[in-house]
Amino acid sequence: MWYGRTMGIKTLEWKKGKLYLLDQTKLPEEETYVACSTYQEVAQAIKNMIVRGAPAIGVAAGFGMVLGARHATRKSLDSFSKHLDQVARSLISTRPTAVNLIWAVERMQKFARQRVSEGSHDLEGDLEKEALRIMEEDLQACREMGRQGQVFIPDGASLLTHCNAGALATAGYGTALGVIRAAREAGKRVHVYVDETRPFLQGSRLTAWELMKDRIPCTLITDNMAGWLMYQGKIHLVITGADRIAANGDAANKIGTYSLALLCHAHRIPFYVAAPLSTIDLSTAKGDRIPIEQRSPAEIINILGRRIAPEGVKVLNPAFDVTPHRFISAIITERGIVQKPYRSNLKKVFQRAGTRDDDPTLIG
Ligand code: MRU
Repeated sequence: MWYGRTMGIKTLEWKKGKLYLLDQTKLPEEETYVACSTYQEVAQAIKNMIVRGAPAIGVAAGFGMVLGARHATRKSLDSFSKHLDQVARSLISTRPTAVNLIWAVERMQKFARQRVSEGSHDLEGDLEKEALRIMEEDLQACREMGRQGQVFIPDGASLLTHCNAGALATAGYGTALGVIRAAREAGKRVHVYVDETRPFLQGSRLTAWELMKDRIPCTLITDNMAGWLMYQGKIHLVITGADRIAANGDAANKIGTYSLALLCHAHRIPFYVAAPLSTIDLSTAKGDRIPIEQRSPAEIINILGRRIAPEGVKVLNPAFDVTPHRFISAIITERGIVQKPYRSNLKKVFQRAGTRDDDPTLIG
């Protein structure tokens, strides 16, 4: 089965009971796949960022639960639940910020318990179908965000994106890059400035690779160039993805996003966030409650295996920051475009059914 439907980008694939992950640590030089046949292998792949991006790690974890259930004892609902809880904990502990991971694992846990209590004779098959549903829904959500969000991109726009919120970060098509793709599909001319995204270089290694594959005009810049380009009027809007959006609209995303949002504010440039509902966490009241992953100093003190800082230097490496909601112009979801005030409008977006109107649905 083939799922990454964007110009040949196949981020995740479930085939004959194994999860195949495009190894994102090897891009853009090599397009190789890592096969996972146990949940521990899936957990390791998420931790090592072979698969990364909030929705994609959620989808991968869904399949991790299928693999974890494979060896579970089904003597009783209690023993099965205990085993699955342990699998869930192991998957969730890999990366703390992206809420899609917890969302997908909890959905699989709930579904498994329900099927066991209903006396399912093919639990693995049932779970496999649920994980495939999560994958398919994510792809559909990306397409819908694209359809709705592309209205914010005028013909001839020059925009900037940070990190990778594309097909590689999702089941396919992307969130922020999905909006850009949809603008192109609507016949608009766009040019994308791609932030390099230190230290893991998701911008240069992944976003530039994706955009070039799709023949979307782009220019790579280092992260510290954005302000100067804005000052010169070369950037008309910024669009990013998110790893977790709190109930008040504060949005955690790749480190450097907050600085971009501030720059947008200072230059009166719109700053949009595109994210599916699986990224919105109404149980987290505001941004300062979002756990921020701290990653290894090695990512900062080495480049391509070469040390670029003195031995013993102190290093800080938070993988994400939080953009306060007041700097976000709108949040693009698959269920509509959410405007301020976010606290009430984010609640509304969960209450309403999806729309198939041609015009975007404005919430707020
Ligand atoms: O550390 P990463 O590469 O997993 O971080 C990814 C991001 O910050 C993305 O912008 C975010 O997950 C949104 S992806 C649709």
